Amino acid sequence: MRAAFARELGGIDHLELGELPDPTAGPGQLLVRVHGAGVGPWDVGFLSGGFPGVALPFVPGQEIAGVVEAAGDETGIRPGERVYGTTFPAGGGFAELAVASAARVAPVPGRLSFPEAAGLVIGAGTAYEGLVDKGQLQAGQTVLITAASGGTGSAAVQIAVALGARVLGVAGPASHDYLRGLGASEVFDYHQPGWAEQVRAAVPGGADRLFDAAGGPTRDQAITAVRDGGRVISIIVSGPELVLDRGITGESFAARGGRERLEAITRLVESGQLRPRVAAVLPLDQARAALAQVAGGHPGGKVVLQIGR
Ligand SMILES: NC(=O)c1ccc[n+]([C@@H]2O[C@H](COP(=O)([O-])OP(=O)(O)OC[C@H]3O[C@@H](n4cnc5c(N)ncnc54)[C@H](OP(=O)(O)O)[C@@H]3O)[C@@H](O)[C@H]2O)c1
Repeated sequence: MRAAFARELGGIDHLELGELPDPTAGPGQLLVRVHGAGVGPWDVGFLSGGFPGVALPFVPGQEIAGVVEAAGDETGIRPGERVYGTTFPAGGGFAELAVASAARVAPVPGRLSFPEAAGLVIGAGTAYEGLVDKGQLQAGQTVLITAASGGTGSAAVQIAVALGARVLGVAGPASHDYLRGLGASEVFDYHQPGWAEQVRAAVPGGADRLFDAAGGPTRDQAITAVRDGGRVISIIVSGPELVLDRGITGESFAARGGRERLEAITRLVESGQLRPRVAAVLPLDQARAALAQVAGGHPGGKVVLQIGR
């Protein structure tokens, strides 16, 4: 099969294109002919050696959408089914064929192309787990979302709006109109000194929830705009631990993803409440350029690969 892969780790410059042996699916797994693969900051992290236990040659790509080529009877899935899901942490998505656990895929939403569907897997899955399962966000509550312009943040904004929350988005100015269009009531530019005071002025007492996809100083400033007794959910697991006071609870978490959550995402897509923000669709042979776009930190939405069609 054709694939983009690294024979050694050390950065995205190690990525090359070529032929690798076709992978084979074991029990409980599917062989998927990949037609869309999401590109994320985690792919840059894997190629830089930021994740342990990587087998070489390493094929990046933790989010895929495509057609099932082979599946054991025990999976309950048949060849020919159109699925999307995650291959985390083994990767393998930047290739014509990939192996995925049957428990971590679901049918592709009918409204989406394969690249669009792939682009929702981790971002929307993480946003859903953070807002619904860990944040217990309720209709009528106020949620502040950092890095709201990114693949994860833009899904978080849409999911929070769908839940009936009042959404305050934090992002660079280029995305403010987009975020308002999604239903964010207010948007703030983290480059502006005093933006967290502006949030507190907009929500006297502070926001009920913070969904943080930025980390660093932006997260620390955002916490000052959370109400006493509020809740902070961060998806940034590296770097300094969360420091919380004023009765605020919270956690940083690494999402796992699975069929149930993908099915919830599919329902939101089918009801017109969730769409990926696709910044660029590139062919497999431009995988390195796709990674470079993500590595810059401001891709303006999801970068996705279209593979094989
Ligand atoms: N824990 C988990 O399970 C999990 C899951 C998914 C993602 N993540 C992590 O979450 C982060 C976001 O992922 P993503 O897929 O949404 O990334 P992405 O699509 O590449 O978007 C990057 C975002 O970061 C923002 N940003 C860049 N520099 C910033 C800064 N100094 N302060 C505040 N915001 C800044 C950008 O905003 P502007 O372009 O508007 O400036 C953009 O919204 C990444 O670190 C990723 O590894 C973790």
